[in-house]
Amino acid sequence: MTDILIKGARVLGGEPADLLLRDGRIAEVGTGLTAEGAEVVDATGLVALPGLVDLHTHLREPGREDAETVYTGSRAAALGGYTAVCAMANTSPVADTAGVVEQVYRLGQEAGLVDVQPIGAVTVGLAGERLAELGAMADSAARVRIFSDDGFCVADPRLMRRALEYVKAFDGVIAQHAEEPRLTQGAQMHEGDVSAKLGLTGWPAVAEESIIARDVLLAEHVGARLHVCHVSTAGSVDIIRAAKARGVRVTAEVTPHHLLLTHEKAESYDPVYKVNPPLRTNTDVQALREGLRDGTIDIVATDHAPHAAEDKECEWAHARPGMLGLETALPIVLDVLGEQWDLIAERMSRAPARIAGLDGHGNDLVAGAPANLTLIDPTTRWTVEPTGLASLSHNTPYAGMTVPGRIVATFLRGVPTVLDGKVQK
Ligand code: DOR
Ligand code: ZN
Repeated sequence: MTDILIKGARVLGGEPADLLLRDGRIAEVGTGLTAEGAEVVDATGLVALPGLVDLHTHLREPGREDAETVYTGSRAAALGGYTAVCAMANTSPVADTAGVVEQVYRLGQEAGLVDVQPIGAVTVGLAGERLAELGAMADSAARVRIFSDDGFCVADPRLMRRALEYVKAFDGVIAQHAEEPRLTQGAQMHEGDVSAKLGLTGWPAVAEESIIARDVLLAEHVGARLHVCHVSTAGSVDIIRAAKARGVRVTAEVTPHHLLLTHEKAESYDPVYKVNPPLRTNTDVQALREGLRDGTIDIVATDHAPHAAEDKECEWAHARPGMLGLETALPIVLDVLGEQWDLIAERMSRAPARIAGLDGHGNDLVAGAPANLTLIDPTTRWTVEPTGLASLSHNTPYAGMTVPGRIVATFLRGVPTVLDGKVQK
């Protein structure tokens, strides 16, 4: 393995420093470093962050390899500055057995661009009726620690309680897609003035909030860890803030799209804006941003949800919900938060790595740490083009938008996965 000498990178936006990557680790950090035989990467003006970690990625393999594969999703992730992603369980077959999570894990290793950490389903087939083999998935080669029926809510409170009790034994976490299904039947978008105007069935904020309120109480009762996926309403932020103040073991994520876009986007009837949970109001967006700043919301997770053209480029009612996220997450967050590099590193790398238990990721860029990092050019603005993205699907809501921040290079255990903005496999 060739040594890499990164020259003049601004670690977390600080003063320029050199980083020597050797044998998968950061061997040295300093100024004026030299290393014979090392490949030199000029990082003048670039910001170095620990490699980003996505707690919520849909890779679609097995089952929908026409929309995304572990390999294509890994390429998109590396190009987005990620060194680890957690792959959601709503594949076909569902990742509800040791066999399927091991398959996804192996595919991730073969792709070799990011660490792919499979998430296991909570219930068999995501059907919400019987617990899946959580223990076997935890004990498998994939070492599953996060379980989620994402796409669906674990709506039955007794099952949710059992799941929390089960994973408590090995410090696992249940990641809940909070949606009371009885309140969202037929829902097409956020319930509010825009849905009323368009005549589309609404998805009310309370459908999310009532499940989160219930689940923080269940997590408190059991003493287990709950993670709330894609928080989308101001009321949810309040519930989580109060639960944290009481000491409940709850963490939460927000997506880049819920930090930026609002339900007015549906007025275009362009299904690229259809997502679950739906885009909400500007009041919600402001509360989510505040929650992210004050730590009520621990992390940004992409909910990268590639969909084939036939499932997305159709009329609104028939389109699948979901948006691409991996290649645009950092630019959108940079746009929303500004150059608060330490906060960005916390919300997009350190905290997600902690929640997922991925010890090799989310570490400070100091000598001895695993060499998982990304280099960002904060001054370059670029225009998002759906066909210019590495994902197999094109359903980005940011098409034509000019965003700040270009990922120039990414390193996974000292090996460049992206150099000069180009993926290395
Ligand atoms: O918009 C979404 N898309 N929300 C989900 O919960 C699932 C995801 C998907 O799998 O496409
Ligand atoms: Zn979800």
